[in-house]
Amino acid sequence: MTQQSIAVIAGDGIGTEVVPAALDCLHAVASAHGLTFDLVGYPWGSEYFRAHGRMMPVDGLETLAAHDAVLLGAVGVPDIPDTETLWGLLIPIRRGFEQYINLRPVRTLAGVTGPLSTTEPIDFVIVRENNEGEYSEVGGRMYRGRENETAIQEAIFTRQGVARAARFAAELARGRRGLVTSATKSNGIVHTMPFWDEVVAETVADVGGVELEPVLVDALAAKMALKPWTFDVVVASNLFGDILSDLGSALTGSIGVAPSANLNPERRYPSLFEPVHGSAPDIAGKGVANPVGQIWSVVMMLDHLGHADAAHHLQASFEAVLAGGISTPDLGGTATTAEFTRAVLTEIDGRAEEFTATGS
Ligand code: NAD
Ligand code: IPM
Ligand code: MN
Repeated sequence: MTQQSIAVIAGDGIGTEVVPAALDCLHAVASAHGLTFDLVGYPWGSEYFRAHGRMMPVDGLETLAAHDAVLLGAVGVPDIPDTETLWGLLIPIRRGFEQYINLRPVRTLAGVTGPLSTTEPIDFVIVRENNEGEYSEVGGRMYRGRENETAIQEAIFTRQGVARAARFAAELARGRRGLVTSATKSNGIVHTMPFWDEVVAETVADVGGVELEPVLVDALAAKMALKPWTFDVVVASNLFGDILSDLGSALTGSIGVAPSANLNPERRYPSLFEPVHGSAPDIAGKGVANPVGQIWSVVMMLDHLGHADAAHHLQASFEAVLAGGISTPDLGGTATTAEFTRAVLTEIDGRAEEFTATGS
């Protein structure tokens, strides 16, 4: 196999802390499996914006397109509007590379206690439609200077866009427990949602062998807080999926543990791997950020790049550290980012034989 190439954008805030931690883990696990990657860092983010007035160069997407995957930390700082930072980097990559699936696993990790008093294990995956829906640029405008200032945006749901997300979710559920829960809101005057329901139902039926449970998103949020172990695959529009994924991760302990894969399933363009969390300005620079979401995103990237053994090895290593009682303050522990990462590196080393027996 020719050497795979990974673009690395650490970004802002704790992105610059958890990305190096995750890269240390990547190097260690790659070397245990005889893999080498061509890692190319791009200094794109808010500092770049201050210097150049944009978040990435004009040909940024072309530059990234030459890589096999993109690993992102997080973007956003308190003194530059998110409409510059996020709209200038993350959103254009997701759209430009047709990463229409945002896959977000939500799973109980041994050694980590969430806010729920139950011991019932949580294990579901959110399939978030990632290219359209409420995150649409169509009609985005503000009418200023009138008595009742007005902001307008049109939500765009296309048959193709909804169907491909629903198909992905149904196929995923077929290999799991066979249940797709669809987040809807067809009771409110949300004109897109009856259409969402119709296309999801048709698509899931077409895949076959999967039960479909449409649930109004408000009730779904409550059910997720009360009985999260009942979900298998949750398919949701862009905005609903965004909100449900922070809720899901919090139920498993912290938003700091949640990973995500922004996938272009056809592999015409690179996919992007990033934690669910943001740049966390409140803890940035303190060295206490939880690197698990970023490390788990590297696991998803390794899997996507065809290195299942290395992915399992890294997953088992960070999970063993948590199970052994080492964690960062967001999970109630006292470890710094560096201490946690060192513990993961020790586990990677100690488990090399277990995971390299079949090669990678
Ligand atoms: P956030 O996820 O950055 O932080 C929310 C809370 O969770 C904070 O209290 C933070 O300290 C905590 N937290 C987050 N990640 C953590 C980790 N790894 N370890 C420990 N604690 C962690 O969300 P926010 O505060 O709403 O957003 C901050 C900035 O990040 C904003 O500019 C926002 O737009 C941006 N953002 C970027 C991305 C991205 O780049 N993918 C994602 C979400 C938010
Ligand atoms: C996420 C984030 C982004 C989103 C923001 C930062 C644009 O919250 O990845 O969940 O809304 O998609
Ligand atoms: Mn979010």
